[in-house]
Amino acid sequence: MRLKDRVALITGAANGIGYAAARRFVEEGAKVIIADYNEAEGSLKQNELIEEGYDALFVQVDVSSKESVQRMVEVSISKYGKIDILVNNAGITRDAMLTKMKQEDFQQVLDVNLTGVFNCTQEVVPFMVEQGKGKIISTSSVSGIYGNVGQTNYAAAKAAIVGMTKTWAKELGRKGINVNAVAPGFTETNMVATVPEKVIESMKSMIPLQRLGKPEDIANAYLFLASDESNYVNGTVLHVDGGIMM
Ligand SMILES: NC(=O)c1ccc[n+]([C@@H]2O[C@H](COP(=O)([O-])OP(=O)(O)OC[C@H]3O[C@@H](n4cnc5c(N)ncnc54)[C@H](O)[C@@H]3O)[C@@H](O)[C@H]2O)c1
Repeated sequence: MRLKDRVALITGAANGIGYAAARRFVEEGAKVIIADYNEAEGSLKQNELIEEGYDALFVQVDVSSKESVQRMVEVSISKYGKIDILVNNAGITRDAMLTKMKQEDFQQVLDVNLTGVFNCTQEVVPFMVEQGKGKIISTSSVSGIYGNVGQTNYAAAKAAIVGMTKTWAKELGRKGINVNAVAPGFTETNMVATVPEKVIESMKSMIPLQRLGKPEDIANAYLFLASDESNYVNGTVLHVDGGIMM
């Protein structure tokens, strides 16, 4: 058991990569807080895990709202008494070419994908400092490292996550907290479900492993960064993308 008795808070865990991580973490002995905006899916996933004998709690949250995040942390602490692992995984896309991108879509992606990561980390860190240890993992993206057509807003937020991760790794290392990011490549979730088949095929042909990522591929990287196996890994961006970016 790689996460025995650890408490992990995973944002965006009602679907896709976040849910794969919640499942992987409980299998390794963690208690998991499924923190998500989507109440129906979040409750469903909580019940699914509980029925299988795992310890899971759904908390409804909008990561872009400070008050909502404060409430999420309060509820989590009152249930489990601590948070050992924070995975800042919640994210959205509102794609458009630069000249067509609406100001509100630019702002909303920054609010969720960037300010959301700031809000959650700022609220959770004091509890990690108090116990003298913790693991923070935030989800960047290939788009944030190399850019991507139609993703001005998303690439900006995902690049900013790299900067925040390195800053926090420097600020919090001395407090016993490891801070790292994962940069997934194209992964089979709802987020890419609307991408036309032709585009998917052309993506696959550019990936040395010749396939898209599965949510479990990314969840396994989160697991490594959440476990003791990564105790000397700090401030890194782990690319999990089949080799598309080299
Ligand atoms: N799928 C990909 O190809 C890919 C590639 C690179 C990075 N990522 C990143 O991986 C992470 C997970 O994405 P996914 O592919 O599993 O997407 P997904 O759409 O399947 O899941 C995202 C989850 O985040 C939740 N969410 C959205 N806004 C929220 C908010 N304001 N507050 C709380 N929860 C909110 C959604 O309800 C959903 O459950 C995201 O940060 C995404 O940007 C995904």
